[in-house]
Order: sequence, then C-alpha cells, then structure tokens
Amino acid sequence: MRQLAALGLVESRPGVGTFVRAARTARPVDYGWQTAALGAPPNRTAALSSTQRTAAPDVIGLHSGYPAVDLLPERLVRQALARAARTEIALTRSPAAGLPALQAWFAGELAEAAPAGVTPATGRDALIISGSQSGLSSIFRAVVGPGQPLLIESPTYWGALLAAEQAGVVLVPIPTGPQGPDPDDVERAFAQTGARAFYAQPTFANPTGAQWAAETSRAVLDTVRRHGAFLIEDDWAHDLAIDAEPRPIAALDDDGHVVYLRSLTKSVSPALRVAAVIARGPARERILADRAAESMYVSGLLQAAALDVVTQPGWRTHLRGFREQLRARRDLLLSALAAQAPECVVETVPAGGLNVWLRLPEGAEVSHVVRECELRGVILAPGAEWFPAEPAGPYVRLNYASADPARFAEAAGILGSVLAEG
Ligand SMILES: Cc1ncc(COP(=O)(O)O)c(C=O)c1O
Repeated sequence: MRQLAALGLVESRPGVGTFVRAARTARPVDYGWQTAALGAPPNRTAALSSTQRTAAPDVIGLHSGYPAVDLLPERLVRQALARAARTEIALTRSPAAGLPALQAWFAGELAEAAPAGVTPATGRDALIISGSQSGLSSIFRAVVGPGQPLLIESPTYWGALLAAEQAGVVLVPIPTGPQGPDPDDVERAFAQTGARAFYAQPTFANPTGAQWAAETSRAVLDTVRRHGAFLIEDDWAHDLAIDAEPRPIAALDDDGHVVYLRSLTKSVSPALRVAAVIARGPARERILADRAAESMYVSGLLQAAALDVVTQPGWRTHLRGFREQLRARRDLLLSALAAQAPECVVETVPAGGLNVWLRLPEGAEVSHVVRECELRGVILAPGAEWFPAEPAGPYVRLNYASADPARFAEAAGILGSVLAEG
C-alpha cells in the first residue's frame, strides 16, 4: 500500500478507507517562459562537461575523471566514517578555516617538501574546502577578480576554465607541453597583460599527465615574483604519482606568491570531498572570506574522516598499491592503443594522474570519432573541453583508472576501426 501511495495511485483517508485515486490528466509542461526570463546563457557554464556523464553499465567508459571504487582505500574510509560518526563532531559545526588538526596535516605535508632556508607553511595557512573545484572559484574571485587577466595553461582542466569563466576573469592561454610551458612565454604574457596570476598544474597535469621540468618550475616562480604576481598551483594529482614524485612549487615559496590547492577527492574518496588551499597573507584572508560567504564551513564529519584515513599506517601502504595499479592500467591502455590504433599519438606518457591525452590522426573529426565510438559502446572525452581557445589539434582524453582494464583492448580496437573507416 505504501508503494502504491508513493506512486500516487491510491490515497488513504484516515477512518474512511483507501481509495484508488482519480486518474491524473497528463498536462504537457512548458518552461519556455524561463528561457525568456533568463535570456541566453552567458557562457559555457550552462552545460555539463562530457566527463560528468553517467554511462550505462555495459559500455566502456573512458571519459570519467575519477578512479574506480576498487582502487580506493575502501576499508580505511568506512572505518574512518564510522569512528567519526561516534564522536561529538557528528553534531557540531567546524571552524570556517577547517579542523585545526587537518589544517596542520596539509601544511605539514607541504613543509616536508620545503628545502632548508624556506619558512614552511603552518596549519593556519591551510584552509579546508569542500573539494578543490570550489577553491578554484574562490581563488579566481578573490585573487584575480572580474575583468582581470589570468594566465592559464593550454590545454588545462575544463573545470578551471568553467570556474574562471564564472568568476568573469579574462583568460590568457599559455601553450604547455611535456616539460611544462616555456618560461619566456610566461614572462612575456605577464609583461604584456599586467596579469596578477597564473593558474597551472605543474604536477601530472589534467589532461596530459605531464610534470614540469625542475628548471621550468624555478623559472616560473622567479617570473611570478618579479611581476609581484601569484602562481595558483593546482596539485590535484599529488597522490596519483606513477613514474615521478610530486614536487610542489609551493614548497619553495615563503613570501605568499604561491596559492596551493591540494585535494583528497581522487585518492581518499569522491564522497568525502575534502581539499585544502594553502595561502599566506591577505590572499589567505580574502579566500577565506569568499569561502565563508559561499558555504560557511565544511562538514566536520567529513574532515575528521579524511584526517583519520591519511594518518593511518594503512594509508601509505594503500598509496604504494595504488601507484602500481595506476601503472599497470596506464601501460595496458598505452599498449592496447599502440597495437589497435597505431595512427594515434601519445605525446606525453603520463608520469602520474588518471589520463592519456591522445592525438588522433590529422584530419580526424573529433566529434564524429567520439559519436561513432559511443554507438559501439566506448565513451571518450572530446579534447576541446580542455582548451581555453581553439583546440591545438584533434585530441581525446582517455581515463585508464575507471573502466575495467580487461576491456582496454576491445576499446582500443573500436577506436582503431572507427579511425580506419575514416
Ligand atoms: C586539475 C584539477 N583540479 C581540480 C579538480 C577538482 O577536484 P575536486 O574533486 O577536489 O573538486 C580536478 C578534478 O578532476 C582536476 O582535474
């Protein structure tokens, strides 16, 4: 009866009985008035990224931005959530900047990478945020501001492009490659535009998986200092290392030029959604004020659970296993592509992260290839979403950490046959 009532098929009248509801006449709904009221969307923020689509269970989804559940520290996360639920934290509000112990953990990790002579960040410099996406929006609003130029790598993370667009900043693309951007390009762009910030992913960038050369990192930090500007360093893949260790540029800076973002979403759990911004001076205060205006504070329950996970001895063991699984999956996908779609080019073997950035043969129409692959059961992410301006070539992004690796050969075969058919 409850189910019938929930479906709206019957209604109960207490003391009288239960009756079949009169059939509802289906009225066509028309929200056209809203389009007139809202006007045309100002930018691409009206659409969701292709990476956010939910795929049917039988397809091979290579488009997602997350690792598969079986790569996550499931036991640690479940135990941590249960432990946190038993404490006071389940019923109290957390400070706006975050739980002090978690702030200290994020700052401590960065401090470990700081060379002698650099004053490391402290827990107070770390602001806990609910995923780094929200941090990007706050940083662009608070540090750059509407109408102001922001240097940004090309290609770069589509979510950063969305956040920047929503914050109303003006994007200045800087081409980036397997070693990072050319420091001379960065210097020139700062000089020409008077920008006060550069958003970059020096470590295992999304989408390419590239890591900046150490000299590039030093040169860009010098440039940023010379121009009295900020480097917004998005260290999204800190825990997703494969062939190299992460080397945060923020660890080299103690005068507040680097605003550092570090997320646990992809390595602990997408359901915990805990990240941090590490910033110093007035930039820290402004970002905190923006976060407080937007969401007041992050659930202490999730913060406590995240801290519990990353301070367990099992966390380090998990990261070692995670690295090996990422390596095996990456290599399997690369060899499947080399065998089945040899006309495609991988310009950068990803040293970390979750993705292969694949250049299709010249003349390939990306939207056609993506559509045809999808009709045959493989979902790819079209590369245009990662470019702040026109795409530099026919690229697609393939995630090697989410789909079943046993189906990589099949997926590469489908891509190869779509390309062979032209
Ligand atoms: C480069 C980069 N930055 C930020 C984010 C957002 O991360 P979070 O899940 O912490 O919001 C992502 C997500 O894929 C990303 O790739």
